[in-house]
Amino acid sequence: MQNLRYVGKNLFIEKLSIKNILKKQKTPFYIYSENQIITNFLKFKNTFKKTNPLICFAAKSNSNLNILRVLGKLGAGADVVSGGELLKALKAGIKAKKIVFSGVGKTEEELKIAINKNILLINCETESEAKLVNNLAKKLRKKVSIGFRLNPNVDAKTHKNISTGKAENKFGLSIKSFKIFLKTINSLKNIKLDALSVHIGSQILNDAPFIKTLSVMSNLIKELRLNLNYVDLGGGFGINYTNKERPINLNKYSKLVEYFSKKLNCKIIFEPGRSIIGNTGLLVSKVQFIKKGANKNFIILDAGMNDFMRPALYDAFHQIIPVSKNSAKSKGKIEFVGPICESTCKFGIYKNYQKINENDFIAITNVGAYGSSLSSNYNTRPLIAEILINKNKLRYIRKKQNLLKLISS
Ligand SMILES: Cc1ncc(COP(=O)(O)O)c(C=O)c1O
Repeated sequence: MQNLRYVGKNLFIEKLSIKNILKKQKTPFYIYSENQIITNFLKFKNTFKKTNPLICFAAKSNSNLNILRVLGKLGAGADVVSGGELLKALKAGIKAKKIVFSGVGKTEEELKIAINKNILLINCETESEAKLVNNLAKKLRKKVSIGFRLNPNVDAKTHKNISTGKAENKFGLSIKSFKIFLKTINSLKNIKLDALSVHIGSQILNDAPFIKTLSVMSNLIKELRLNLNYVDLGGGFGINYTNKERPINLNKYSKLVEYFSKKLNCKIIFEPGRSIIGNTGLLVSKVQFIKKGANKNFIILDAGMNDFMRPALYDAFHQIIPVSKNSAKSKGKIEFVGPICESTCKFGIYKNYQKINENDFIAITNVGAYGSSLSSNYNTRPLIAEILINKNKLRYIRKKQNLLKLISS
């Protein structure tokens, strides 16, 4: 993150020192740089400027209302996967005609909300879902624009738990099933096939799977002579969690997308999440205790896997950095762990780390995407505070959840 740096020994986010923030704010908490969010969004927009796509931010990656507001003001739409996310996107000021609704198992209640709010597209994933939308639309006397999410059977070459575009994955309709469905779609008078969509996975660092998917879509649309208003190419653009990864280069892909959009005369939609919000956030935590282990020392933090799931869920690596640097060294190996009663509640092993003491503070980096949005009340722990920084201004965008409310049911 460009907006994160040390000034002397102290970690700053934008113009504020975390050390100062800690005088008023108890750990753990999430903290984000608003200017980094803006930079990332504008960079994405600029990459595809010749295509001028509708950029629907994937709300699942971070659904904080104020973050949705920041993005909405920049012109972003939203990709939502639940009725809750849909209503939040609207509440954040994002226009219904900039919202697409994805997901394999939307409920009748959620679909009714989407139809009543007149969103841009409901991206269906089964024939049954399209029929349900048609029936609901008929009852509500509406004609609804739908997209169909296809499964292009392309390997995104990413972690198996975030790969969504292969035939073995539950997502999207196979091309064969889609072709069968097309024969009957004209009998469904209350829906209109306006789009095709794909999303092959997340944290993809190579352009090849995107290019392959584009070619599958292009061939299919030509073969079936579909006349679509939109093609939704999903999200999935990876970010660098370590210095070893090479940033994804989207130059070639963006040219191909431009050509594709012109040739088919359709508006392109993207659904990026991680590439917009991933590197904008930190999770700040305190060292509660230090325990000697058999061959390493455990640094027990006050942040747990309920606050930040990615390491437990995907074995994800997130660099942990000190809030204040010192020049002494820890002896041997150390492992940062959390307080939750699960062995997977751990955040990384380090050698040659700086000396860590109880009551020191650290920051887990690049936690903006799938951090707070994946957090839970596991172990009956309240959801933690979220703070947004813009230059030297600090805004609470979520208060820590009230413990008394939490224990009421
Ligand atoms: C349908 C859909 N669109 C967009 C995204 C956002 O992906 P990413 O955060 O990798 O850009 C996801 C996340 O997996 C998704 O399921």
